[in-house]
Amino acid sequence: MKILVTGGVGYIGSHTVVELQKTGHEVIIVDNLSNSKIEVLDQIEKISGIKPECEIFDLEDRTKTKDFFKRHADIEGIIHFAAYKAVGESVDFPLKYYRNNLVSLINILENMKEFGVENLVFSSSCTVYGQPDELPVTENAPIKVAMSPYGNTKQISEEIIRDTLRNGGLKAIALRYFNPIGAHESALIGELPLGVPSNLMPFITQTAIGIRKQLSVFGDDYNTPDGTAIRDYIHVVDLADAHVIAVERMVNNKGKKDFEMFNLGTGNGFSVLEVINSFEKTSQTKLNYQIVGRRAGDVEVVYADTTFANEELGWKAVKTLDEMTLSAWNWELALKEKNNN
Ligand code: NAD
Ligand code: WQD
Repeated sequence: MKILVTGGVGYIGSHTVVELQKTGHEVIIVDNLSNSKIEVLDQIEKISGIKPECEIFDLEDRTKTKDFFKRHADIEGIIHFAAYKAVGESVDFPLKYYRNNLVSLINILENMKEFGVENLVFSSSCTVYGQPDELPVTENAPIKVAMSPYGNTKQISEEIIRDTLRNGGLKAIALRYFNPIGAHESALIGELPLGVPSNLMPFITQTAIGIRKQLSVFGDDYNTPDGTAIRDYIHVVDLADAHVIAVERMVNNKGKKDFEMFNLGTGNGFSVLEVINSFEKTSQTKLNYQIVGRRAGDVEVVYADTTFANEELGWKAVKTLDEMTLSAWNWELALKEKNNN
């Protein structure tokens, strides 16, 4: 099967490319390198033995996107990762986020229709649930008012897809990721945050390696056992595997509806302090951190009900929190080694 992976040079995309290649699929990537480095393609080749085909252009560009589809009419499925994803930045530059995340999706959908590419996997997020009323959160939980322009782009994207599918001919699966962390076991690919990371895991590894002085733990007065906020962290390779299954499900006409949504998490919630403890254990490194006030916009607790994804996709996240923190650490060590040479 030939699969287009947009944003395939990025964090989740690169891991998904490797898993697609492992299952024998042919991959073509489109990326504009706005948040990734072209060297990732060589790293993918080191893992899989195959350097994926890749075209560098901006999916916001309607003409270039159409030209791409004209030349690749044999694509059977699309996994659409390409988007901006920094929650804080989206508050400062909302239009940048609305333009990129929505226009890119619209351009893709427009060309799927025109060139008869029927199957789309869309990167959505647990952020669409806000602070859910019931935990664990199922796919049927109400969508809450978005807490950031970024989160809103995911909600609107799902609506754009739903409306587009109403006219028939296309299928889509929205995968709502919880908190992806960790890196490939080879430590050849991983997360490459540009600038100061806002997410917990890269901040932990960068602090432990000495790039950052101290981790701030945002709040220990939540209504949780240790007072710190709880999330459903999922290993990026488990997440990547679900994409392979999702795209195959559509191409093989196994879906139950034209538009399906699945939660991708482990179903287990871990607190910030539990993540830190796991990291200290697996890396055998003491982390310099201090408790500070809550971060604006953070929810207290969110973790997934994964029953639907487990049963319908036949997929289950298998990697433990310790495997996640250790792989993230090995990736940070590999980056340091590379930068020293
Ligand atoms: P990433 O930034 O590492 O990867 C995104 C890739 O898309 C980058 O390589 C970037 O250069 C590319 N890109 C962005 N805009 C583009 C455009 N207009 N044209 C072409 N390429 C473009 O991010 P990621 O963590 O791999 O996230 C992938 C997707 O998953 C995003 O849609 C993100 O919103 C979503 N998501 C991520 C998380 C997370 O915590 N990482 C959680 C939920 C959802
Ligand atoms: C996790 C926990 C923080 C940094 C974000 C997006 C969400 C999704 C995943 C894309 C929280 C705490 C963090 C730090 C800390 N992305 N923390 N110190 O906020 O759950 O979700 O990424 O769709 O949409 O909002 O992830 O990794 O930022 O935070 O104490 O320096 O770690 O308060 O409790 P979050 P995160």
